[in-house]
This record gives sequence, C-alpha cells and structure tokens, in this order.
Amino acid sequence: MDWANPSASTVSGMKLTNIDHIGIAVHDLDDALAGYERLYGVLPILRETVEAQGVEEAMIAIGGSFVQLLQPLGPQTPVAKFLERHGEGIHHLCFAVADIEAALGHLAAEGARLIDKEPRIGGRGARIAFVHPKQTNRTLIELIELDLAHA
Ligand code: CO
Repeated sequence: MDWANPSASTVSGMKLTNIDHIGIAVHDLDDALAGYERLYGVLPILRETVEAQGVEEAMIAIGGSFVQLLQPLGPQTPVAKFLERHGEGIHHLCFAVADIEAALGHLAAEGARLIDKEPRIGGRGARIAFVHPKQTNRTLIELIELDLAHA
C-alpha cells in the first residue's frame, strides 16, 4: 500500500481525487462557526448563500479538505427537512472527481439512483451532483468537479 497516494479506483470513468468536504447540517451558522473557532481555532475561508440549494454555507479548510456547515434558508428546503428528521449532524460526504460526466455515466450504468442526472452549479461555482444515499449505507454522496481536479 502506497499511503502517500492510496487512492485507487478500479472503475473506468470513475476517478475520486479526494474527499472535498463533509457537509454538516446546523440550525445556526454563526453559533456553529463560533464553536469551531473556539474549540479548533479555525475560521471559514468562504461563506456564501447558495439559493439553488436553499442554504447559507461556510467552508472551513482543513488540509486539502473542508468542513462545510449548512444552515437552511427556509423551512421547505432539503436541509431544513433533514434537520427536522435527524437533527444536526453529518448531512453528506463530497468526493472530488476528475470528470463528473464520466462519473455520473458510470453510476447510471450501475443503476445508482441519481438525484442529479446532470451536473449543476453549487458552492464555489463548481459543478456538482448528488447521489441518493440508498446504495451507500444511508450516506448522501455529493460529487464535485473542480478545475483543480484537471491539474
Ligand atoms: Co456539499
């Protein structure tokens, strides 16, 4: 095992480059950020409203990955419904992929339930797509293609 470069997908078209972020649903973004700052000494490098997803989000950089804190914009949004059902906590896991179309093509061919059949624009202006948690042990998966993934 090459622990310096352990990633190894055996599937053609699917290349996960890293864990981009872990999304965490919170009731109050300011409170959540204050906790991370006080306990872990970290500040968000980005805070933005993503209307299309019904969230205000903050990104805390940790190494090459982020913690993404998500506060719903209104009661009818998916994150508000998640909070209602489960309370605060981990909402999704986001894998960076080299080629999001190829990744979605592979997932569709394998019968994965795609929430987004085509990529859409998410935070940071990046192309993203969500995959239903059913086939991944109730873990909602987000894919993101960053320009960096092409570097
Ligand atoms: Co996310």
